[in-house]
Amino acid sequence: SNAVVPAIINVDVEGPLISRHLYGHFAEHLGRCIYGGFYVGEDSDLPNAGGIRLDVVEALRALNIPNLRWPGGCFADEYHWMDGIGPKDQRPAMVNTHWGNVEENNHFGTHEFMALCELLGAEPYISGNVGSGTVKEMSDWVEYLTRDGDSPMVRLRKANGREEPWQLRFWGLGNEAWGCGGNMTAQHYADEARRYGTYCRDHGDNRLYRIAAGANTDDYAWTETLMKTLGDLGCAYRPQPFYQALSLHYYTIPGTWQDKGDATVFGTDDYYATMVKAARIDELLTGHSNVMDCYDPGKTVGLVLDEWGTWWNVEPGTNPGFLYQQNTLRDALVAGLHFDVFHRHSDRLVMANIAQTVNVLQAMILTDPDSGALVLTPTYHVFEMNKGHHDAASLRVDIPSGVPTRQVGEQTLATVSVSASRKDGKVLVSLSNLDAAEPVDVELDLRGGTVTGARSRILTAEKLQSHNTPETPDAVAPRAHEQVTATATGLRVHLPAHSFVTVEARLA
Ligand code: AHR
Repeated sequence: SNAVVPAIINVDVEGPLISRHLYGHFAEHLGRCIYGGFYVGEDSDLPNAGGIRLDVVEALRALNIPNLRWPGGCFADEYHWMDGIGPKDQRPAMVNTHWGNVEENNHFGTHEFMALCELLGAEPYISGNVGSGTVKEMSDWVEYLTRDGDSPMVRLRKANGREEPWQLRFWGLGNEAWGCGGNMTAQHYADEARRYGTYCRDHGDNRLYRIAAGANTDDYAWTETLMKTLGDLGCAYRPQPFYQALSLHYYTIPGTWQDKGDATVFGTDDYYATMVKAARIDELLTGHSNVMDCYDPGKTVGLVLDEWGTWWNVEPGTNPGFLYQQNTLRDALVAGLHFDVFHRHSDRLVMANIAQTVNVLQAMILTDPDSGALVLTPTYHVFEMNKGHHDAASLRVDIPSGVPTRQVGEQTLATVSVSASRKDGKVLVSLSNLDAAEPVDVELDLRGGTVTGARSRILTAEKLQSHNTPETPDAVAPRAHEQVTATATGLRVHLPAHSFVTVEARLA
């Protein structure tokens, strides 16, 4: 018989709302994410709308994709939006120097991105160019997108076929300003963020939510500088701060920057090292939140983790600048663990965007460059199984005996992870068993409500290295999970080794 872990959930004590935007996405002009991923062009044999691939849209709609960040990443600070509007054959080309040194023809620009968001039913999140752009260029972009009536940018938009302004909330003031976004010091960037934030106006009733380019990993000094420089959080003269949120980037990279590790060829030690790195997201969100609390105890400034996920060596034979990697059960467990942590930080964390949706890094979807075949990754299935947490009230999970752990070098890894939420009379519990070999049972003590029924699904596979390909698209896919039994106080859930399980319990 395996270990039994008791977990107490008071289903009638609701915590902060888990924003659906914690399940957000990111699409950069990088490798085959946009071109050959989302966008195949109008002449493609694949079903498309204005060049946007429709089976990709359909798969993401099934996740209730809440938002999409674009056009970068590092690309954002090289992107000049005016090159991406107007007739496609007249758009100037450029070289994408960050990613593969390939030519960018600008056929996918503002109108195509906004059309994609409309097809997806997702809110756009646009990152403007601070690194190599100008304040005027950014200010004009906001006017072009969001202003109604008549103005120079409105006339230009209308001439390009769009009468009505778009609704647009999420606006990034550059990206990784400490690195590819201009190699600035924290203070220099913070001053720039105030300046750019000033001229990104709210036109009509459109309200921008300005997101300053935040820290990398544990650079708490960067976060502190941005919080200090933010100034008043609102006064009669200027009712809004210059930026409403700060971002943060953290990637799970178990190896070195030069040799990050292979996506599919790895051993058990590599697996545990990965999980230790992934679990670090809790320490980082806690650390950055603590710094923000010192300046903003009322938590009015948001934290946006707008890049996260695994980063492996590229697949052999692919362009090193394209960041194309496979995605195994291990990646799915990394995602499940992140979401548990996100749910616990939903008082400060307002958005998160995994990098990067299609064909790049920890993608939801991989497409074959030759046949076009589309494959859903194990990570995709975690997003799908967890979608009941969108905009649900978080529920605290207490494990009085402590979670089982495992020593990984000098680090201690908790091998069981659980989070829960409540919405529409249902409790959704997500459970991960990160142990590579041992099963475990979790006994859920659901207090403050009566369970009238439960439905459970499991994502696992024989091997941690299992992944999906066009030939075996469902090697890692969710199945009904039968090993959930009613107890006097709740439910007992069996978790096989290396598995991710969701339990949806209906309340009386
Ligand atoms: O997601 C890939 C790259 O990682 C992004 O362009 C950049 O912001 C980060 O360094």
